[in-house]
Amino acid sequence: MPMGQPPWAEGVDLSRPSPARVYDYFLGGAHNFASDRDLAEQMLTVEPGVRQWAAANRSFLGRAVEHLLDSGVRQFIDLGAGIPTVGNVHDIALGATSDARVVYVDIDQVAVTHSRHLVADVADRVGVVQADLRKPDAVLGDPVTQRLIDFDRPVAILMVAVLHFVAESDEPEALLAAYRDAVPSGSGLVISHMTYPAEMTDQVRESVKTYGRSAAPLTFRSQAEVEALFAGWDLVDPGVVRVTRWRPTAAGNDPATLPDIPGLVGVAIKP
Ligand SMILES: C[S@@+](CC[C@H](N)C(=O)[O-])C[C@H]1O[C@@H](n2cnc3c(N)ncnc32)[C@H](O)[C@@H]1O
Repeated sequence: MPMGQPPWAEGVDLSRPSPARVYDYFLGGAHNFASDRDLAEQMLTVEPGVRQWAAANRSFLGRAVEHLLDSGVRQFIDLGAGIPTVGNVHDIALGATSDARVVYVDIDQVAVTHSRHLVADVADRVGVVQADLRKPDAVLGDPVTQRLIDFDRPVAILMVAVLHFVAESDEPEALLAAYRDAVPSGSGLVISHMTYPAEMTDQVRESVKTYGRSAAPLTFRSQAEVEALFAGWDLVDPGVVRVTRWRPTAAGNDPATLPDIPGLVGVAIKP
C-alpha cells in the first residue's frame, strides 16, 4: 500500500479515477484522490453545472425516499448507493421509522468499505453488498439482502445517478424487469439519470468523452428513453421531469431559482 493511503482505501488503484469518488468530490466529500479530483476538475471546466447537478440529485434522492416512506414503503435497496455523505437513505428511513430496512449496493470498494463502517451499529436493519447491479440475481440473492428484505412486502428499488453507467449493450430494460419482477405490488422505483442538455454543444461532447476515461463510461438517455425504463410501473406525479422540478420544496430547490440541470428523474409504484 503506498504511503499515506488510508485504511478504507486499502488495495484500491488510486491512479484510476472512480465514479463514486468523483461524485464524492463534486459533493464536497473527503473520500477522493488526486486522480479523481483531476478528472472532476476537467469535467467542471467543460460543464460547470456538474456540481449543482450532484447536489440537486442528492436532494431529489431525499425527497423521493420521504415520498415512499409516506406511501408506506419501509424497505429500500439502494443500487449504486455511493460513498456515504449527507442525507443517506438509512438516516432518512430510520429517522422516519425504526422498523425500516436498507440494503446499500455498490461496485466500488471505497463506497462499500466506508458504508460498512458507517452502518455497523444498525447492522440489524441496514446492510451493505458489494456487487454489480447488472447482476440482479447476485444482488437479490446475496445473504445480506435475503436477511434484511422481506420480498412479500413493498420494496423500493433506488437507481439514483447510476443507470447512466449502464450501457445499452447491458440491456437495461431486462435488468429493470428482473428487479421489478422480484418485488410485490406497492413497491417503488426511483430513477435519476443524466440526460442531454437542451443544446448538445461541443463542450458537452467533450465532457462525455472525459467521463468515458473513468472506470465506467457515461450513457446519456433522452426523456423517452428514461420514461421507457419505468415500463410496468405507474409513475407518480409529476412523471419524469428535470431533477429540480420533481416536487420541489421551498427550502433551496425552487426551480425558479435553479439552472436547468441536465438530469431526469422519476418515482413510480408497482401496480
Ligand atoms: C454518481 S454515484 C451516485 C451515488 C448515489 N446513488 C447518489 O445518487 O447520491 C454512482 C454510484 O454508482 C456506482 N456504480 C456504478 N456502476 C455500478 C454497477 N454496475 N453496480 C453497482 N454500482 C455501480 C458507483 O460506484 C457510484 O458509487
